[in-house]
Amino acid sequence: MKTQDKLILRALAGETLPVPPAWMMRQAGRYLPEYMATRAQAGDFLSLCYNPDLATEVTLQPIRRFGFDAAILFADILLVPQALGADLWFVTGEGPRLSTIQNLDDFGKLGPAADIHETLNPIYQTLRNLRESLPPETALIGFAGAPWTVATYMIAGRGTPDQAPAHALMQNDVAVFDALMDRITEATIIYLSAQIDAGAEVVKLFDSWAGSLKGEAFAKYALAPAKRIIKALKEKHPDTPVIAFPREAGDNYIGFAKATGADCVALDNSVTPEWGAANVQVDGCVQGNLASRHMVTGGQELVDATKRTVDAFREGPYIFNLGHGITPDADPANVELMLKTVRG
Ligand code: CP3
Repeated sequence: MKTQDKLILRALAGETLPVPPAWMMRQAGRYLPEYMATRAQAGDFLSLCYNPDLATEVTLQPIRRFGFDAAILFADILLVPQALGADLWFVTGEGPRLSTIQNLDDFGKLGPAADIHETLNPIYQTLRNLRESLPPETALIGFAGAPWTVATYMIAGRGTPDQAPAHALMQNDVAVFDALMDRITEATIIYLSAQIDAGAEVVKLFDSWAGSLKGEAFAKYALAPAKRIIKALKEKHPDTPVIAFPREAGDNYIGFAKATGADCVALDNSVTPEWGAANVQVDGCVQGNLASRHMVTGGQELVDATKRTVDAFREGPYIFNLGHGITPDADPANVELMLKTVRG
């Protein structure tokens, strides 16, 4: 099979397909018993991310079990802060913790973007392994966090419901905030470019907290960095498509692809699929946006919501996905039912 025959790459090139290609955010994760077993073998989540053999194994698990059309590299958006010199650890049942960046002193402790490979080399090895072992029809997606979302974790040192510490730094010391955004942006370009060199066929930029940026701040800190990253990637890798996910952007989803050069915009489930088709898919490929909770609740409601989503996006280029990551309490049988429904 030729690379360009892969269904996801065809959708990303603008083709409307009779049956949409499908994958899921967090498809390798805690809802799968085989993931829990491999994580236990690795010791903990970060050791799993940095072990190319085991990270390859968990990336392949959902492909074997469900036959998704794409595999997403198993890693985390917070490996970039770690590669820049931040301390990073995960508290079981709570989430990530990092050393915080509150002022110029803290910022000064970070290393240069060019040095990230020292830490991130195992990630590139995982990608090389995956290109060797994936079925020929399965596309390989690499990813990074968008600068704003990564900055929110680096500033607060943890996940926050409203990203208040990052908004506060933006207000109180915009020079440090901008310098941090700039450093993350440079690192992201270098990281994604290396992922493509190692075999990623698509890259996705996760801006999970884009929804808390409004008006000018959205333009400056969500749209502009995405545009800069995509422009730099396209200069080196003109044929590698980019998916942008400015989660909960609402009306700011409109025109995002054109403004940034993204080949596809991923939609979360705070917008309806009909709205997404009318306002975003008119400009090109979209991905999304079934609510993750259906993977927990299942039943006829899952079938109906899946059909509604596929129907709404039927007239244009489209990749089926959830609106956000699948949760640990999901039932793999519901994933089977969802895929069966998508594929008819
Ligand atoms: O399957 C995949 O989607 C690929 C791997 C992947 C992970 N994280 C693995 C992971 C990807 C693409 C991510 C992205 C990521 N990581 C984002 C952006 C997407 C989103 O969810 O909004 C963010 C914000 C992070 C940061 C992060 N990593 C948080 C906040 C947490 C804790 C919350 C949680 O879900 O537990 C993680 C941990 C994490 N990343 C897990 C996995 C499989 C669970 C860790 C475990 O096994 O204990």
